[in-house]
Amino acid sequence: MHPGFVDLLRCPVTQERLSLRVDRESSNGMVERGMLMTQSGREYPIIRGIPRFVSSERYASSFGYEWNRWPRAQFEAENIGRPMEGHTTRMFERITEAHPGRIDGKTIVEFGCGPGRFLDVVRRKGGIAVGVDMSQAVDVARRNFADDSNVLIVQGDVLRPPFARGVFDGGYSIGVLHHTPDPAAGVRALAGVIRQGGWIGVCVYTRGKFYDYASVKRVREAHLRLKRSFGYGPALAYAWLSAGVISPVLQRLKRFAKLKRAVEHLEQNWIVSLGLKDRRWRFLDIFDAITPEIASTHDEEELLSWLGEAGCEDARRTAFCATSATGTAGSAAGSAMPVQCAA
Ligand SMILES: C[S@@+](CC[C@H](N)C(=O)[O-])C[C@H]1O[C@@H](n2cnc3c(N)ncnc32)[C@H](O)[C@@H]1O
Repeated sequence: MHPGFVDLLRCPVTQERLSLRVDRESSNGMVERGMLMTQSGREYPIIRGIPRFVSSERYASSFGYEWNRWPRAQFEAENIGRPMEGHTTRMFERITEAHPGRIDGKTIVEFGCGPGRFLDVVRRKGGIAVGVDMSQAVDVARRNFADDSNVLIVQGDVLRPPFARGVFDGGYSIGVLHHTPDPAAGVRALAGVIRQGGWIGVCVYTRGKFYDYASVKRVREAHLRLKRSFGYGPALAYAWLSAGVISPVLQRLKRFAKLKRAVEHLEQNWIVSLGLKDRRWRFLDIFDAITPEIASTHDEEELLSWLGEAGCEDARRTAFCATSATGTAGSAAGSAMPVQCAA
């Protein structure tokens, strides 16, 4: 971590400022090992260049596994000349609808950054990118950005963010808050760290769509039962088989008008299948759908009400889907009360 980022950070429990002790520094001045300390005696270690505000992955451990297995599959640079080229950038743009002036030279935070494909978009658009994630994905993200001094990766809980209030020019959370026990609190927490007039973008799973299918829920439940004895083996085997064989066959069968409804019934109730054009993305996304411990689904009205309750003005749906939305942090946002969460 670059030492200049300390001013953005706060104790997630008391909101106190943190002082930095450097134990080991890299040749370009990045802190590799050290400690962040409050005056009241709380301590948060910096390990492998990452400030650590949580000591375990808790309910997000499947993502630690997932992102170590697919560290860069969804990065633009890995997809040049391939079927999903441009997808990550388009997805970011359609969810946040943040024009370049809202990113270039600005400090932007991502809640639940995973390995950092969207932080990479922010960096390429000229932003200073700060990502927080609770899982071991943070180590993957740190490796992905090597020693870029305009990127800060933090291990922490988005429901109790380790940042100063109102410190960012913009912030977003894509595909994350439905994996927490309280997505509305996640929106409040995000709004709380954005300055008044800054932008917010959020995307969560949509009720009635893919992640809500009975097939996805059945396979997810089976995985969570099998995981205790077999780890991720069965889920990997299922995702690999569906991505490589079952999904392509079902997509072809759907082209026949007479079979379309029957295949859709199968997909919605019994077999997890995706039509993405790249087999690697299908493998990753099927695994991602069937392994999380928490996965709730929502609708547009709910998401817009969370943004409103979080003090955002002009909350509105964006082009990506029914549950992607953006808003402007209002006067109440940056001063929002810290969110309550278990433990
Ligand atoms: C599906 S991934 C999305 C990653 C990234 N936004 C993307 O779309 O590439 C969800 C991420 O949310 C993280 N996550 C889940 N609950 C979290 C929490 N309470 N605090 C921080 N990160 C969390 C997981 O570790 C995981 O990396």
